[in-house]
Amino acid sequence: MEAISKNFFLFLSNNKLLDRLAKRYGTRFGADKIVGGETFSQAIPLIKELNRDGLQVTVDHLGEFVNSKKEAKERAKECVYTIQAIASHQLNSEVSLKLTSLGLDISEELVMENMRLILQVAEQHGVTVTIDMEDSSRCGATLDIYKTLKEEYENLGTVIQSYLFRSDEDLDTLDETNPYLRLVKGAYKESGKVAYAEKSMVDENLKRLIKKNLLNGHYTAVGSHDDAMIQYTKELAEEQGISKDQFEFQMLYGMRNETQKKLVQEGYTVRVYLPYGEDWYGYFMRRMAERPANVAFAVKGIFKK
Ligand code: FDA
Repeated sequence: MEAISKNFFLFLSNNKLLDRLAKRYGTRFGADKIVGGETFSQAIPLIKELNRDGLQVTVDHLGEFVNSKKEAKERAKECVYTIQAIASHQLNSEVSLKLTSLGLDISEELVMENMRLILQVAEQHGVTVTIDMEDSSRCGATLDIYKTLKEEYENLGTVIQSYLFRSDEDLDTLDETNPYLRLVKGAYKESGKVAYAEKSMVDENLKRLIKKNLLNGHYTAVGSHDDAMIQYTKELAEEQGISKDQFEFQMLYGMRNETQKKLVQEGYTVRVYLPYGEDWYGYFMRRMAERPANVAFAVKGIFKK
């Protein structure tokens, strides 16, 4: 039953007609619980409030299905605007982005040009940029771009997904770049040829990746709402004498709010991933696929603390 509902929401996440309808009606039917608004201006007061609660933020201008050069350049300009606004409003926030929104599926030249534009402005303002990881068909290209750009810009991170068989080797090839990595389980529908199908295997692999990246001495963001992953990271750090400065927990906006605040009180760094933008539909549906309880939460505002 769980697999059926997951597949159903992942199927819906790619439906372009529903995507268009969503844009027309906006976030008012529940998506506003997990999306920070349709414009960055709407997100600013939310970021300020999160910062006041001791939470750091990474903002993501939502965007999928970009298939023209013009649109990809507009997305890049929006990222630049966001970085400038983070600096002028003195927000404690990084930026997350997806390479497909900047032209990955159009040409490498375009995506590199857009990324360099963004990274230059980000560097000037001391803002870190993280490249989200999309589906497995784009993983190799995303990591190649990450490695090239990381030689030019220090303020760059990316994501590794524990459901992929390749991820352990990817950590090895990234080792020499002194990577800033967010480690997550993975949110896309993947074939059994490239990814673990069993949740227990995905969970075990995430623990292995967390351990490896931390013991390699790299700053590690654990992107999970799962108490088991949080507990594992805390215990590992304690056992191995790893300082709280070497890792952080990251959670999505609107999820486990009380847990986020409790971790801050315990002295851990917590970063909230806050998406905003008109293109919220695909993001919203992937969250539904992960946790059907989010449907009830989005509609009724009930969720586990
Ligand atoms: P999982 O879904 O495995 O659930 C395990 C347990 O955690 C549940 O049984 C429940 O007890 C608890 N739990 C989970 N969600 C909860 C909730 N909302 N409320 C209460 N309890 C909850 N993916 C990707 O492919 N590319 C990316 O770039 C990113 N980026 C990213 C950034 C950040 C900050 C996060 C947190 C996640 C991502 N992801 C992602 C998504 C990630 O891959 C994964 O799909 C989700 O985080 C779900 O996995 P979890 O480990 O959170 O819990």
